[in-house]
Amino acid sequence: MLENIQALLAQATEEIKHASDLNQLNTYRVHYLGKKSPVTELAKEISRVPVEDRPRVGQSLNEFKRAIQSLLTARLDLLQSLDIEKTLAKDRIDVTLPGRGHAQGHLHPIAITRQRIESFFKGLGFAVVEGPEIEDDYHNFSALNIPENHPARAMQDTFYVDDHLLLRTHMSPVQIRTMKNNPPPLRIIAPGRVYRRDFDVTHTPMFHQVEGLYVDHDVSFAHLKYVMQSFLNAFFERDIPVRFRSSYFPFTEPSAELDVQCTSCYGKGCRICSHTGWLEVVGCGMVHPNVLKEVGIDTEVYQGFAFGFGYDRLTMLYYGVNDLRAFFENDMRFLQQF
Ligand code: PHE
Repeated sequence: MLENIQALLAQATEEIKHASDLNQLNTYRVHYLGKKSPVTELAKEISRVPVEDRPRVGQSLNEFKRAIQSLLTARLDLLQSLDIEKTLAKDRIDVTLPGRGHAQGHLHPIAITRQRIESFFKGLGFAVVEGPEIEDDYHNFSALNIPENHPARAMQDTFYVDDHLLLRTHMSPVQIRTMKNNPPPLRIIAPGRVYRRDFDVTHTPMFHQVEGLYVDHDVSFAHLKYVMQSFLNAFFERDIPVRFRSSYFPFTEPSAELDVQCTSCYGKGCRICSHTGWLEVVGCGMVHPNVLKEVGIDTEVYQGFAFGFGYDRLTMLYYGVNDLRAFFENDMRFLQQF
């Protein structure tokens, strides 16, 4: 009997030592310590052992159980720690890998320009106002001294929504709305999107304009000149030569177009300025009395000046970009440079 127990212990020790995973180890536990284990079978035979030997046999059986238990625990510990090591090796994080980085957004170059323009004019006491992009014929044309069938309507290739509604072709309708709703004195700029049927290197069907309006007592062309020159100096961050050329707009009289010295050749003449040395950037003039009368302002008491310019073009000149369309194609390689 004792020999049987010894043999069984030797076999169990061997098997448990080689259990390769937790499942197998569990099978051995059930086999050696469960209800149907060989030890239980041996215990049943204890009645056949001579009485004087029984205590030794009993003790030996108990020792067997304890030995098996501690073998199982030891093996279990080992297998579990191997398991943990395996998982750790598999899920290892390489802390030396470079990080993914965060892409940080920034303003679009045209938005940057708009902010620079707004902050300059706010400094002079101008308020920033807005208006609808879908306008009616009256605000976009008639109120601005452009009657029906006037050839000036053809100057601006208009997108019509229906017989009376259109996509505003300039920011002047916002001046009309402002003057109708607010008594003078007025100092405003109106930045926003405008639309014309045009598409090439320097024209896109949607572009951006700022228009400014100043209505007060004793406003003269000299004030207009001063404001324009100061603005362009501030915008281009240097004293930039400008010239005023007389021109025509139905809503201003007298009217002028304002050129700045070419920002690419400094007046020598190049492809950008069509070899003239100058770039046309602003339309402006003294508000036409017909426009002031239309909005109910007494022209004997008040005068005003107005100006308008496309600030996509200013953005191009400021950053040295020569294709306007690049601003609206949303190519990240282009935008990331600003
Ligand atoms: N509204 C004109 C345009 O879109 C610009 C302008 C504004 C001219 C104000 C004179 C005075 O071309």
